Amino acid sequence: MTAQIIDGKALADELRQSFKARVEALAAKGHRPGLVVILVGADPASEVYVRNKVNGCLAIGMHSEKITYEATVDQETVLAKIAELNADPNIHGILVQLPLPRHFDEEKVLEAIAADKDVDGFHAENVGALAQGNPRFIPCTPYGVMKMFEKGGVDLTGQEAVVIGRSNIVGKPMALLLINAGATVTVCNSRTRDLKFHTRRADILVAAIGKPKFVTADMVKPGAVVIDVGINRLPDGKLCGDVDFAGCLEVAGQITPVPGGVGPMTITMLLANTIEAAERKAGL
Ligand code: GUN
Repeated sequence: MTAQIIDGKALADELRQSFKARVEALAAKGHRPGLVVILVGADPASEVYVRNKVNGCLAIGMHSEKITYEATVDQETVLAKIAELNADPNIHGILVQLPLPRHFDEEKVLEAIAADKDVDGFHAENVGALAQGNPRFIPCTPYGVMKMFEKGGVDLTGQEAVVIGRSNIVGKPMALLLINAGATVTVCNSRTRDLKFHTRRADILVAAIGKPKFVTADMVKPGAVVIDVGINRLPDGKLCGDVDFAGCLEVAGQITPVPGGVGPMTITMLLANTIEAAERKAGL
């Protein structure tokens, strides 16, 4: 059996089109949604992500700007900028691109962002709300994955879900969302003993481990829904996911490609969160 491919690009385009009317309605009331993205240092991958975030906003009529700092900037300068943006009524979302240089205290920086402008959903208050099953801002990548399940008619209730990866950005919030949706959730990591034992039981398998083609066909339960969150650059410059797509395509029931799967959905949900922040501010 060849799996059905979940087209994240098409879903992202459809959602972004639908956001335009919300943006214009807000703009007409003087609340054009605005996102600031802060980039510290010149990591090439981060530069691409940040450019795509800003352009994604501009393409649907939102306001967006990038603020860049040298990698050597001191933390106080960035914290002062965040305080200024917290108080700026024209800015509804603030995102600090991760990772930060090593001399930064990442937690302190993320906690400095006002919780009602934390469109990444990384502030402890927002993480707590998600853990309690009452989310305010959902981290963009797992939020995008949930939208893909919704679009694909995947009912998560009672399903065995396995997440490979336990990061704050993807693995942990993904697990919380799956728990909240009624799945039976196992969170694995690179040191899990007999990983295959777990993955082969999964009706839903989410790979977010950052290792190219790590999930092979023998690790996948026939008919499973396989979600590939990885974006890895191969020596030849091509992108590939954490899943061996060609192999798993023959075993899975549904599968996301890389590129064109989860990636476009991440920025789409960032736009959704920023629009929602602006709507809350406008009392809509
Ligand atoms: N770095 C990799 N993914 C993300 C993300 O979703 N948000 C931020 N702020 N940084 C990231």
